[in-house]
Amino acid sequence: MAAYITFSYLFPLLFIIIFVYRNCKKRTNKVRLPSGEMGLPWIRETVEFYKAQRSNQLFENFFQPRMKKYGNVFKTKLMGSPTVVVNGAAANKFFMSNEFKLVISSWPTSSVELMGRNSIMEKQGDSHRCLRGIVTSTLNISGLAAMVPRMCGSIENHMNKNWQGCEEISLYRSTKMLTFTIVVECLFGVGIEIESMFGVFERVLEGVMSPPVNFPGTKFSRAKKARAEIEKVLVGEIRRKREAMEISGREEEDGMLFSKLVAALIRGEITENEVVDNVVLLVFAAHDTTSYAITMTFKMLANHPHCYSLLLKEHEDIATNKRPGEALTFEDVKKMEYTWQVARETMRLCPPIFGSFRKATTDIEFEGYTIPKHWKVLWTTYGTHYDEKYFPDPMSFDPGRFADPVQAYAFIPFGGGPRLCAGYQLAKLNVLVLVHYVVTRYNWSVIYPDEPILMDPLPFPSKGIPIRIIPEIKQNIGKFCVTLGNPWVRLPAENP
Ligand code: HEM
Repeated sequence: MAAYITFSYLFPLLFIIIFVYRNCKKRTNKVRLPSGEMGLPWIRETVEFYKAQRSNQLFENFFQPRMKKYGNVFKTKLMGSPTVVVNGAAANKFFMSNEFKLVISSWPTSSVELMGRNSIMEKQGDSHRCLRGIVTSTLNISGLAAMVPRMCGSIENHMNKNWQGCEEISLYRSTKMLTFTIVVECLFGVGIEIESMFGVFERVLEGVMSPPVNFPGTKFSRAKKARAEIEKVLVGEIRRKREAMEISGREEEDGMLFSKLVAALIRGEITENEVVDNVVLLVFAAHDTTSYAITMTFKMLANHPHCYSLLLKEHEDIATNKRPGEALTFEDVKKMEYTWQVARETMRLCPPIFGSFRKATTDIEFEGYTIPKHWKVLWTTYGTHYDEKYFPDPMSFDPGRFADPVQAYAFIPFGGGPRLCAGYQLAKLNVLVLVHYVVTRYNWSVIYPDEPILMDPLPFPSKGIPIRIIPEIKQNIGKFCVTLGNPWVRLPAENP
């Protein structure tokens, strides 16, 4: 009997194991995988990655040591997936422009569940093109020009409500709330209750990188509940809007993204779920990234007074040609060239998104290596932003380096290729207009110039960048001095 069991079960099993092993070996002998660590203990790489991420030391403690040991292309194993990390402008160009052909974007399960399976980040081919077309049609030149006065109104209201009469505010908290408001009011034009919805969206964000365990008390389960609340509000808004548009027979009259999405729903191009998922995705894509970019821009300006004085001059020149209370125009914003150099240099050193994952849809040959089908590919901003080949003296803050064009695919805070950030023009507008309001209306100083930055899942300043503010005294415009560190960044010349 025992012999019978051995022959009928164990022998075939042994045969299968030997067959699979020999096939794998034959295959791996043929392909040249990038160098790197994937072995036991199998979660070590993931633990080191998360540890480095939480302290915002991904470059110093994870990518850089491996790049030194294995080169710009190396393999690792993250969250159970074999992953190839790629660095350098050529790699960025190759993987970003081969989106849909050799790779597709690949987000963690929890992000997909919380943003929605119908969001643009999960779409490919025609449905990706359709959604992208709707989003970018709101952000063309005329859309952006129309958005400037709306944005000025939102900023003015926010400052009157939250800054007036205060001596100290959390710049990060305030810009987060403000960028959320701008997305809701200026991009979508949805009539939701901003302050309470802001809190609900924050709860969803807390779950996007957590393990997808839907068990009471977990971050993911809290985030799922918050997402359901948002969905309920949005479905109500969509149905109300749809009815109003169908009754009036007019489509997209306000040019807002929400109307454009509902118009596409009425035409049968997209479903109600697609509208919901894309509103949720866009709110996330837009507000946390932009608020971090703005906050870090101020942190950099506080630590680089010479840059601040150049920037201030640019804004005062614009302000002196305006009547009191007159809103900015798109033409004014176009003049903020130096400010945009400062913001880009800030995003080079402190990118709001460190990189993004892709999945190989076929075996890929790259720089003499094979990246097997189904493996993940991770491109990183750090790999080019901190490389002196593209940015000499890379760790120094030098906005002037952006006065000339930068090599393609070396500066990638907004990604590139078919998945290039669909909202980068809005982000740019938001940064420039808000900087203008703050620097022309307030003397400000950063309270903790060396405040540590942490990550969860996106980078954030650990103390929220508290700043001291004093309303600008108009007659002192043009007379200022700049001091480093804690003292006022900008002071009337007679009161140093
Ligand atoms: C400083 C602010 C921002 C940064 C740094 C940023 C960064 C990025 C990056 C790196 C990607 C590419 C991700 C990938 O390749 O997997 C991306 C995609 C995207 N971003 Fe942004 N973003 C910002 C602001 C915005 C804003 C304001 C919007 C709102 C309209 C937006 C909407 C999107 C969308 C819809 C995508 C997906 C595009 C697609 O899959 O076709 N982003 N963003």
